[in-house]
Amino acid sequence: MTPTEYEYLRKFLKDNSGLDLSADKQYLIESRLLPLARKAGLSGIPELVQKLQSGSRALITDVVEAMTTNETFFFRDKVPFDHFRDTIVPEIIKARAGRRSVRIWCAAGSTGQEPYSLAMCLKEMGAALTGWRVEIIATDLSQEVLEKAKAGIYSQFEVQRGLPIQMLVKYFKQTGETWQINPELRAMIQHRQLNLLHDFAQLGTFDVIFCRNVLIYFDQETKINIFNRLARQIEPDGFLVLGAAETVVGLTDTFRPIPDRRGLYKPNDPRAAAAKPALAGVAPRMAVMAGR
Ligand SMILES: C[S@@+](CC[C@H](N)C(=O)[O-])C[C@H]1O[C@@H](n2cnc3c(N)ncnc32)[C@H](O)[C@@H]1O
Repeated sequence: MTPTEYEYLRKFLKDNSGLDLSADKQYLIESRLLPLARKAGLSGIPELVQKLQSGSRALITDVVEAMTTNETFFFRDKVPFDHFRDTIVPEIIKARAGRRSVRIWCAAGSTGQEPYSLAMCLKEMGAALTGWRVEIIATDLSQEVLEKAKAGIYSQFEVQRGLPIQMLVKYFKQTGETWQINPELRAMIQHRQLNLLHDFAQLGTFDVIFCRNVLIYFDQETKINIFNRLARQIEPDGFLVLGAAETVVGLTDTFRPIPDRRGLYKPNDPRAAAAKPALAGVAPRMAVMAGR
C-alpha cells in the first residue's frame, strides 16, 4: 500500500465512520482489509482503493464494517451496571412516577450484550417497575452486529464473559452449543442501524444514554460534536454513561461528571434540552414490564 493509498483510506474511514487512525496503522488496515479484498476477488489493497474511489456502495459498507471494533461482553466493566441499578433507575423511578415510562438508548450496542445486560438489570428490579413502559433502543453503525444482536444467540465463550451463571440459567435457553436470550428480553429492545456521525434527532429524547467504548475511536472535534448533539436528546435530569476511557471533561460543558459515580454524567443546561427538535416519525414500541 502506498502512502497515498493509506491517506485515502484514513480519510475515507474518518468521513464514513469517524474512525481516526494515526499515521502508523498500516498494519491494522492490511490485517482487516486484505481478507476482504481477497473475498471480493480483488488482487489487494490498491485495487480495493480503486474500487472505493469508483464509488462501489456495497464495498464502502464492507470496508467500514471491517474496520469497526465490535468487542463487547455482558456487564462490561460491572460498575456502570451497578450505577444503573443503584443510582440511575431509582432516581428515574422517583422522577417519572407520574408517567411511569422510561426511554433508554444504547448508542453503540454492538452484538447486543450491553442492551441485554440493561434489560436483565431492569427485569431483576421486578416489582419496582411493574406496569412501567420501558423502551430500550440499541443502535450501531454495523448491520452485521445488529443482526447478531437481534437474534440474541451467543456462544458458550460469549456467555462465560461477564454473565453471572444465575442470569444465564434464568434468561437464556441452550440449543446445542449456543445460548439464546429469552423472547421477553428480546422484545424489550429495538435494534436500529445508526451512524453517530449522522443526525439522530429523530430518535427523540431519552432518560438514559449509554454511549460506551465508541468515542475513543474518534478525534476531539467529532467527540465534541457528538456530545453536543447527545445533550439535545437527553432529558434535563437524564444520565449519560460513558466508557472507562472516555470523558466529557476538557471537551464540552454540555455534561458534567457526577461525583463518586465514575462514568456517569448529567446534562448541564436544561434549556438546551428544552430547545431540542420535537420527536418526529418514530412510533415507539415499548415493553410493558410485567410482574414476576
Ligand atoms: C467496542 S464496541 C462497544 C460496544 C459496547 N458499547 C460496549 O461498550 O461493550 C464499539 C461499537 O461501536 C460501533 N461504531 C463504530 N463507529 C460507529 C459510528 N460512527 N456510529 C455508530 N456506531 C459505531 C461499532 O460497530 C461497534 O459495534
